[in-house]
Amino acid sequence: MKPMFNLRRCSAPTIVLTLCFLSAVRALGGSPSMLAARARDPICKQISEAISSASNVYYPLHPNYETAISHWASSSSQRSDCAVWPGSAVDVAKILQIVASTRTPFAVRGGGHTANPGFSSTTGVHIFMKRFSEVTYNSGDNTVVIGAGLNWDDVYAALEPHGVNVVGGRVTGVGVAGFTLGGGYSWKTNQYGLTVDTITAFELVKPNGDIVTVTENSDPELFFGLKGGGNNFGIVTKFTLKTHPQTQVWGGLMTFDAFKQERVAAAARKFFSEVTDPKASIIAALNTLNVVVSLPIVSVTLFYDGPSPPPGIFDDFLAISHLSKDIKPRSFVSVVQASPSNLTYGTRGAFHSVPILEYSEAVVKAILNESKFWGPKLNLKSGIFISYSIEGFLPNAHAVSGKSIESAAYPPIRSKTHHPFFLYFAWTIAGNDAHIRDAIEQSARRITDVARADGQDIDSGAIYPNYAPPGTPLEEMYDSNLGRLRALRAVVDPDRVMDLCGGWKF
Ligand SMILES: Cc1cc2nc3c(=O)[nH]c(=O)nc-3n(C[C@H](O)[C@H](O)[C@H](O)COP(=O)(O)OP(=O)(O)OC[C@H]3O[C@@H](n4cnc5c(N)ncnc54)[C@H](O)[C@@H]3O)c2cc1C
Ligand SMILES: *[C@@H]1O[C@H](CO)[C@@H](O)[C@H](O)[C@H]1NC(C)=O
Ligand SMILES: *[C@@H]1O[C@H](CO)[C@@H](O)[C@H](O)[C@H]1NC(C)=O
Repeated sequence: MKPMFNLRRCSAPTIVLTLCFLSAVRALGGSPSMLAARARDPICKQISEAISSASNVYYPLHPNYETAISHWASSSSQRSDCAVWPGSAVDVAKILQIVASTRTPFAVRGGGHTANPGFSSTTGVHIFMKRFSEVTYNSGDNTVVIGAGLNWDDVYAALEPHGVNVVGGRVTGVGVAGFTLGGGYSWKTNQYGLTVDTITAFELVKPNGDIVTVTENSDPELFFGLKGGGNNFGIVTKFTLKTHPQTQVWGGLMTFDAFKQERVAAAARKFFSEVTDPKASIIAALNTLNVVVSLPIVSVTLFYDGPSPPPGIFDDFLAISHLSKDIKPRSFVSVVQASPSNLTYGTRGAFHSVPILEYSEAVVKAILNESKFWGPKLNLKSGIFISYSIEGFLPNAHAVSGKSIESAAYPPIRSKTHHPFFLYFAWTIAGNDAHIRDAIEQSARRITDVARADGQDIDSGAIYPNYAPPGTPLEEMYDSNLGRLRALRAVVDPDRVMDLCGGWKF
């Protein structure tokens, strides 16, 4: 499954040339090592005998095995004994019962976009949810049933003919399941809240193998826990989400050279302090692309939930002379796919996040400085793409859905909305893992310190579980909800079956 070096990307301006170089590096370095097939685990055999014809077990070197274990960040992948592609909830239950009774390490993988090693990978039994691919729209009650194996691109494309949409991911390729089970920050969050705020039901295979539909009425406690609590309570096979009408939207990607960093950062700062239209949203990323030399590149995604934005909102960005500009009225899925986030597919990756209350002058200055400091420095450590995303939401985004802190595991704070400021470092050499992870930690800490010194109440904010690096204390993500989540875990999974797979563990 070697990614192809895409020549079409290599035909135009500087930015595209350098991005194309990155794609070449990925193509050369990203192919799976040709390990000899491992000894067949007897557990895998037991599973293949128990499951129906809707499901399959694949072994190393089979294309479906290699697809299943691959991740957006290659550092999140491990070679498992086998990869199971279940095709029914009943088969998921059988698999779960076998790994539980034999205490076999396993993984549950949705879209494979976690940046945390071991969260959706294992050396044991890898469960790939790809075959849960239903999108069933119900115009009667404005909901849609979505299979746990889909990514958001698929969901948006399937809903488009119905003129409706859901609150989901902002860039291409991200999986529905992991995203939703962690919270879900969307282009629509200012209007409707997080993805978890729009869920009406889960189909869940519990750790004991029971298949249940979990709703507010059927099991309020489990319904709360699944909304942000990750894979602690079993394997979700379907999500039911509320839909809302969707017109064409406006936006896309602009890129800028190194000399525009300050201006773009200032425009982002102004956007987050002044714009109150909940249909408007941006992500402004200060990036360094290291291709032999260090090349700072700024990328901004503009989004307006309508075919044309009211005048004024995005003018500061549009007025800056750009390297590339792909801004227009378009379908929702097209704006999602305008993001270049998939260009680092297959490189090693680490995320971090700081809950920022305000993109103040001091904070934005510190972010600029961090980008200029670490970007070139990590070139020496195979850091290929060092990125700081100024992203955020309106002050009432956590409250706009009308949901309380009791309604969902995440966010545990609703009275304020801290921006989930996002750091992403990509690199190529595994030997540099510890160095890069330490660097991203230092950088996030520095920005935290500057925000604190600026008088911001960082500590009342929760770190977003889907951006938090390995080792983040659970209290910093779940705050006062943690006690309740631990109590729920003890009831739903007394034998700690879900501890056999990676992730945040209550
Ligand atoms: C390019 C990129 C863009 C992103 N953009 C956003 C964004 O705009 N907003 C946002 O909120 N987040 C965003 N994220 C973060 C994203 O939410 C997480 O990476 C999330 O984990 C992705 O889910 P996944 O299904 O692709 O991941 P996976 O790696 O497959 O799974 C992540 C976790 O969920 C668990 N899981 C997966 N499927 C199931 C299941 N069926 N049942 C139980 N547990 C399951 C896994 O075991 C694992 O612990 C982005 C990430 C990337 C890489
Ligand atoms: C992302 O890139 C990889 C490797 O080139 C490719 O296999 C995958 O299909 C791409 N995903 C999307 C959503 O474009
Ligand atoms: C810039 O960041 C580096 C690394 O965090 C730090 O050592 C330096 O003091 C910072 N400079 C300024 C002016 O803040």
